[in-house]
Amino acid sequence: DDGPVAQTVVDEVAAATSRFGGVLVTGPVTPEDALACDVVLAIVGSAGQVGTASATQPPPAGYLPRTDSYVPAVQAVVDGLLVLGRGAPMSPGMFGLARHDGRTVVVAGDAAGLLYGLHELVRRGAPALTCPDDVVWDLPVHQVRMLDHWDNTVVHPVMGQVERGYAGGSIFWSDGRVRDDLTRVAQYARLLGSVGINAVGLNNVNVHAAEARLLTDHLDDVARLADVFRPHGIRVYLSVSFASPLTVGGLPTADPLDPGVQDWWASAVRRVYETVPDFGGFVVKADSEGQPGPFAYGRDHADGANLLARALAPFSGTVFWRAFVYDHHQDWRDRSTDRARAAHDHFTPLDGRFDDNVVLQVKYGPMDFQTREPVSPVIAAMPRTRLAVELQVTQEYTGQQQHAVYLGPQWDEILRFPLAEDGRTVGYLAAGLPVGTVHRGDDPVPPAGGLVAVSSVGDDEFWTGHPLAQANLYAFARLAWGEEDPDAVLDEWIGLTLGDDPAVRATVHAVLDDSWRTYERYTAPLGVGFMVRPGHHYGPDVDGYEYTPWGTYHFADRDGIGVDRTRATGTGFTGQYAAPWRDVYESVETCPDELLLFFHHVPYTHVLHSGTTVIQHLYDTHADGYDEVVRMASAWSSIEGRVPQAFFDRVTQRLAEQERSAREWRDQLRSAFFRRSGIADATGRTIY
Ligand code: GCU
Repeated sequence: DDGPVAQTVVDEVAAATSRFGGVLVTGPVTPEDALACDVVLAIVGSAGQVGTASATQPPPAGYLPRTDSYVPAVQAVVDGLLVLGRGAPMSPGMFGLARHDGRTVVVAGDAAGLLYGLHELVRRGAPALTCPDDVVWDLPVHQVRMLDHWDNTVVHPVMGQVERGYAGGSIFWSDGRVRDDLTRVAQYARLLGSVGINAVGLNNVNVHAAEARLLTDHLDDVARLADVFRPHGIRVYLSVSFASPLTVGGLPTADPLDPGVQDWWASAVRRVYETVPDFGGFVVKADSEGQPGPFAYGRDHADGANLLARALAPFSGTVFWRAFVYDHHQDWRDRSTDRARAAHDHFTPLDGRFDDNVVLQVKYGPMDFQTREPVSPVIAAMPRTRLAVELQVTQEYTGQQQHAVYLGPQWDEILRFPLAEDGRTVGYLAAGLPVGTVHRGDDPVPPAGGLVAVSSVGDDEFWTGHPLAQANLYAFARLAWGEEDPDAVLDEWIGLTLGDDPAVRATVHAVLDDSWRTYERYTAPLGVGFMVRPGHHYGPDVDGYEYTPWGTYHFADRDGIGVDRTRATGTGFTGQYAAPWRDVYESVETCPDELLLFFHHVPYTHVLHSGTTVIQHLYDTHADGYDEVVRMASAWSSIEGRVPQAFFDRVTQRLAEQERSAREWRDQLRSAFFRRSGIADATGRTIY
C-alpha cells in the first residue's frame, strides 16, 4: 500500500543527497523482508552501505514523542543497518530521527512516517547530520490533518471560483474539469506532505450543480488529483450534496431512510472506489445556509450522516459531517433566537447515534470563524462522537490575505483551551486523548476526528495572495501535527522560506508575532464580532449585519453594546458549557474582557478588568491598532534587498492596503460609537 509514498521517499532522498552530500537508503528489499519487520526503510547518512532492516531487538520502552524524547537507544545500528524489534509499536506516521555512530538515521513504521522523518531531517538541516548521538521520536497528535478547499469547478457568479478565496483561482479546476497541467498541484502535494497534511477536500462545501457531478460524471478528474496527492501520503475527499440522489440520480427523493436512496449512495460510492481505491470519503454541509439535508424528510443529522457512512464503510471511507447548522432566515426582531446556540441544540441530542466512520466537524467557535469567539461548547459535549475541530486558514474574517495576520497564536489558544469539565483541552478532545495523557506511541489511539481547516491557497504566484499568509498554512499543518509553540513554528517558517538573515528573521517576527491581536484591536471589539461589510466581509460596517436574517447582531444603542447570552436574563447560551465555563461566562465579574460583549450587553461605561471603560477601550484599541500597523509597515520597509524583490514588493503593497483599511476601521468605529454614546475620548484624539 505504501508503494507510491515509498517512491516519493526515494525521490526525496535523491533531493536530500544533493543537499547534504550523501544519504543512503537501506530497507527491506523484498516483500518478505517488509512483512518480517516493522521498519520499512531506513536512511543512513553515510555512503557505502546498503542493508536490510531486520527485526531482532525489542522496541524502546516508554518513549515520548515530543521535545524531551531522548531515548537511550535505537537498539543497534550496525554497519548502516537500523535494527528495531519485531512488533515495535510504530503508529501511523511515526518516525524516529537518530544519530548513532556518526550516522543519521530515519526510521519509521510506514512509508508516510519515513517521509515525515525525512522532511524533518531537511527542516533541521545540516545540524541534524552533525549533532551528538541522540534519537528523537515523533508522531502526529491528530490522526486526520485535513485541508478543505472551497473550490468550485466553475466560476460561481457571486462567490467566484474559490469561495472565500483570496489567492486567485483554483489550482485544481478550470472550466468545470480538472486542469490539464497539474504541475502546481504536484508542488502543493509535496508541500503538504512535507508538513504532514494527510487529507484534502477537493471542492467547496457549498455544492453547486456542476460540482455535484464530480461524484458521478467526473470521477476520472478526481482520480487524476488523487494520483498526484497519493505519493505524499494524502487522501482526497469530495464535498457532496445531500440531494444528489434527486438532483443527479433522478430519484424522486433523497430521504435517508428510503431503500432506493440507500442503494443509490451505495452504488455511487462503489464506483468512486473502483476509480480511486484509497478515496478518503465525503465532507458534507447539510441543512445549512441553503444546502439540502435530512430535515426536508423529517429526519435528523444522524440519519443523514449514517446514510453516507454506511455506503462508505465497506471501503473504510469516512464522512466529515459539519455541525455548522443554524437558521439563516432569522428575524432580527426576534431576540430569543441565538445563532450561537444552534450547533449544540441540533447535535448534542444525537450523541452516540453516529456510526464509527462519521466525524462531526465543528467550527472552533459557535458563530463563524470570527477573530475572537469563545470555543464551541459542542467540542466537549459529545463524548460518544468522533469530533474534528475546523479552523479557517483562509482569512475570511481576519483580513482576507490583504492584512498580515499570523493566526498561529489564535489556534494555539483554541487548542490549549481547557474546555471539558475534566480539564481536557480542545486539542486533546479533537485528538481523542484521555485527560492527563502524554501521547505515547504504544497507546492505542482512540478514534478521533482530528483537525481540519479551510485552505487559503489559489493560483496566485505566492500561493496565498499575501506572501506572509503562507505562514498560516504552514502553522496549521505543524499545529495539527502536534507542535505546541506558534512562535517557534513561525520562526521555523521564516528560516525555511527566507533563510538565515537575522535582520529578516527579526523583522518578520516584528510584523507577525502580535499581528492577530493587532487586527483584533482595530476591528470588532471585545468579542462582539462581525461589523464587516455584508457579502464579501471585508472592511468595517458597524451595522452591516444588524438588521439582516443572519443572526449576527451586536445590539449597540446609545447606552450599551453586546449580546446577553446568560442563563439569567439572556439566550441561555452560557448553559451549554460545562463547569467552570458556564459560570465564568455567566457573570460580568468573571467573564474575560476579550469575550465580554459576546456574552453580555453592558453600558459603554462598564469598567473592564483592565480598569478602563468599554467605550474608552474601543477608542484606545482602534487608535493603537492602527499605529501598530504603521509600525509593521515601517519595519518591513527596512529589509528591502534582503528578501526576493517580488516577495518584498507584494508584502509592501499589502501592508499599504492594511494601513488604509486599519485607518478606515479606526475612524469608522471610533466615530460611530462616539455618535451613539456621546462620550468623548478621554485622550482627546480626533473623532470624525
Ligand atoms: C461562512 C462563509 C461561507 C461558508 C460558510 C461555511 O459563513 O462566509 O462562505 O460557506 O462559512 O463554513 O459553510
